[in-house]
Amino acid sequence: MCGIVGYQGRNEAFSILIDALKKLEYRGYDSAGIAIWHDKSIEIIRRKGKVDDLRKAASENKIKGTMGLAHTRWATHGIPSERNAHPHKAGDVVVVHNGIIENYMEIKEQLKKQGHRFTSDTDTEVIPHLINSYIEKGEGFIDAVRLAIRGLEGSYALGIMRQKERIMIAVKKESPLIVGVVDGESVFASDAPAIIDMTNKLIFLEDNDIVVFKDGGFRIMDIDGNEINRKVHTVNWTGAMAQKGGFKHFMLKEIYEQPRAITETLIGRVREEKAEVDLDELKLPDMKDIKKIWMVACGTSYHACLIGKYIFESSLRIPVETDIASEFRYREPIMGRHDMLILVSQSGETADTIAAMKEGKKNGVYTLSICNVLGSTLSRESDGVIFTHAGPEIGVASTKAFTTQITVLFMLMLHMGRFLGVLDKKTVREKIVELKKIPHKIQSILNDAQKIEEMARRFITYKNFLYLGRGINYPSMMEGALKLKEISYIHAEAYAAGEMKHGPIALIDENLPVFVLSPHDRTYQKTCSNIEEVFARRGKVMLITDIYDHEMSGRADSILVIPSTIYELQPLLSAVPLQLLAYNIANLLGTDVDQPRNLAKSVTVE
Ligand code: F6R
Repeated sequence: MCGIVGYQGRNEAFSILIDALKKLEYRGYDSAGIAIWHDKSIEIIRRKGKVDDLRKAASENKIKGTMGLAHTRWATHGIPSERNAHPHKAGDVVVVHNGIIENYMEIKEQLKKQGHRFTSDTDTEVIPHLINSYIEKGEGFIDAVRLAIRGLEGSYALGIMRQKERIMIAVKKESPLIVGVVDGESVFASDAPAIIDMTNKLIFLEDNDIVVFKDGGFRIMDIDGNEINRKVHTVNWTGAMAQKGGFKHFMLKEIYEQPRAITETLIGRVREEKAEVDLDELKLPDMKDIKKIWMVACGTSYHACLIGKYIFESSLRIPVETDIASEFRYREPIMGRHDMLILVSQSGETADTIAAMKEGKKNGVYTLSICNVLGSTLSRESDGVIFTHAGPEIGVASTKAFTTQITVLFMLMLHMGRFLGVLDKKTVREKIVELKKIPHKIQSILNDAQKIEEMARRFITYKNFLYLGRGINYPSMMEGALKLKEISYIHAEAYAAGEMKHGPIALIDENLPVFVLSPHDRTYQKTCSNIEEVFARRGKVMLITDIYDHEMSGRADSILVIPSTIYELQPLLSAVPLQLLAYNIANLLGTDVDQPRNLAKSVTVE
């Protein structure tokens, strides 16, 4: 989820590329780099830190030329550093890359045997080496690129140049790439904001498109070299609209990014044929006699932990204790040598969660963090780390970070299930099959988002909401209620459905909407009894379930049907309508959805 820009034309490329990179800064990044072609040589400058640092370093070097590539990196493989920043070079080939190359280790090993030497920890670096290896075998530049991408698995948007020719190539698979149509000049970028001030005529490339830029023009071909045409779209976006990809808010954009974010989380890690989850980055100590798992975090990440407890306990039968990070360290938790402490954090910088990790270390337990931001304090200082690969999350209210955290917890459960010999291959394979269906099922919920917006309209006048769920659906509802509170400033409280009769039932009347999450699992009938208790007190019920219930229709205020899945994966699907409900209510009320009052994206104070 980094940023790419390419330019070829009559003007100095340097300032055009730097200005374009500046327009991608909102996405978050940790390093930047630029490569400028001039008279059969390419100068590369890379810097950890900001685009302004790169601008300063490059202008000190007086980098000149009318063709170039630039990149902002958001680390996924290898810490943020100058040597891991793009562009990467091998022989005379230079590459910038967005996405993840799934089979980079295999390619790297093969190329190493052929004498290639690598200087970074990135997956990207194999790409210029692979292209260069074909050039060394006598292939032309374009054919070498075509052959190389045949060998790549994973997702990529690429900008490629070589020293010998004034040609620039762009390629795309599962990562966005856009060509801007400008007279006599060529521009392309990963995101429209980078180039929208240069042109509003855009071509949105499709998977396996290869674009060759030469002499200020371009042609598009498929992977076999056949020329193809793509539609030119004239958009009327402003720069700010383009940053949000046409969505009104970052939060909405990030809700819609979830199918792709979860796919990125899974890439290279789940192997259905072998019934394996490969968490290479994780160096589990000898945990065969693990006694207990602790899961600790704050806010939304804490809700992921609560869901993790159900996922682990129902499948592995290992006790899991969850806690809020700010409570954990002050209650002197009793931890044993055979325990494991899992810390979940989008930012990896939350002060309470870092303090909880230190408490775990003090007690001598193995600490494992699940983080989104590579290079973050938590990811560096814990004993092991698994990255969620959700890409930068800009909206303050967490959405795609939450669902990718649950995805990682589920993968970790499968990994440990095999490692401990608790789960057989057949069970793991069946669960992987279900897991891989999730992005598609989320997409089908998103395709029906209109229905959720209509529902939201009916609820905007209410001042209090009750959210009910049982089992794994209870923490899903805690997260749903938190989303509504944070962005709409409406009070919402989540309760375990069976607990309602022990107190909150006193609140129920026609002024208290009750949202109920109840897929058809073993507690469905029990939850229906709780719904009857609400009806009896003239409460309004909005039911989210997975099979239409004729009995409930006509009685419930509304019923939303979402796809079915296995018990442990249900929260990944339920999260989406709850996020959309909160979003739509807040949007209709006109609150500042992306930066709700009093909240910060990263809470670095205790
Ligand atoms: C809610 C939200 C917060 C964070 C919490 C922890 O939408 O974003 O509740 O989940 O501050 O942050 P991280 O995950 O960065 O540790």
